[in-house]
Amino acid sequence: MSLLDRLFYKSRKFYDDDFDWDTYTASSYARQLDKIGKDHQMIAGQGELAFDAATGTVTTGNPPLHENALAIFELIGQLQPASVHEAGCGGGDHLGNGSALFPEIVFSGGDRSEGQLALLKQRHPQLADRAILQDLTMPFSNNWPKVDLVYSQAVLMHIHTAVSHFVAFANMINQSNKHVVLMENYQCHNFVEEAQALFDGGHTNWPKMNIYRFDGSHGARIILLSQEDLDYPKLTSDAQIRDGLKVSDRRLKRGQEDFDRAIFGNALK
Ligand SMILES: C[S@@+](CC[C@H](N)C(=O)[O-])C[C@H]1O[C@@H](n2cnc3c(N)ncnc32)[C@H](O)[C@@H]1O
Repeated sequence: MSLLDRLFYKSRKFYDDDFDWDTYTASSYARQLDKIGKDHQMIAGQGELAFDAATGTVTTGNPPLHENALAIFELIGQLQPASVHEAGCGGGDHLGNGSALFPEIVFSGGDRSEGQLALLKQRHPQLADRAILQDLTMPFSNNWPKVDLVYSQAVLMHIHTAVSHFVAFANMINQSNKHVVLMENYQCHNFVEEAQALFDGGHTNWPKMNIYRFDGSHGARIILLSQEDLDYPKLTSDAQIRDGLKVSDRRLKRGQEDFDRAIFGNALK
């Protein structure tokens, strides 16, 4: 995006998503993969990842997998869901690494971009029939797989069009029977406040929602929504998940504006 476009973009009242998802694979994602790939392993070699049930941690090869992915895998290892779905799975590296690490768990993924799914099939041919075309900002589809745990990594943080990230967030919750795991930039939306508001406003089909913070042993942090009572620290505010992180006032402002557009469900008195 040119500087002029960026300035204009920032001053708009209603923001678009951060990227054009139809051109995203060639215009941005390949570069992102290269950037992360400079210091991190993207696709772990056979037997390089291991989950230690006694400590709840994942050990990785050298160079290591990114700490965000490791935190997701540590939480999956601790929660032991029977099935896992990645919302916005992109090129499928997390799905590939996750299904190699936990062969007993059924993994699937969804993405709105055909280009991203084509890349997934190229990078992980064994996952070709485990990924679906899925736009999280569409009304909920009963064709989407219902699973024990849905996670996203760097997806909701980029969705800013009207109220569509609420739709995506609620869809992720409603697609899961037990847990939702968010690995996102926590400045980009008020995720804790939004999860609570979606639940209180009747936008989820969950009977109960606990919101926890999970800290991976390699440094990344996660927001975990769960129907179960678990032994992790509870989150009641976004300040708690942002604690100690460097925040950008511009991002916080945009996130607040996104939140302020919402009208949550009311019940008749
Ligand atoms: C920054 S990439 C992250 C991809 C992957 N999770 C990863 O960590 O490599 C964001 C992904 O979200 C997908 N995405 C964006 N909006 C979406 C939507 N409404 N429904 C499903 N996927 C979406 C994009 O196509 C892209 O693959």
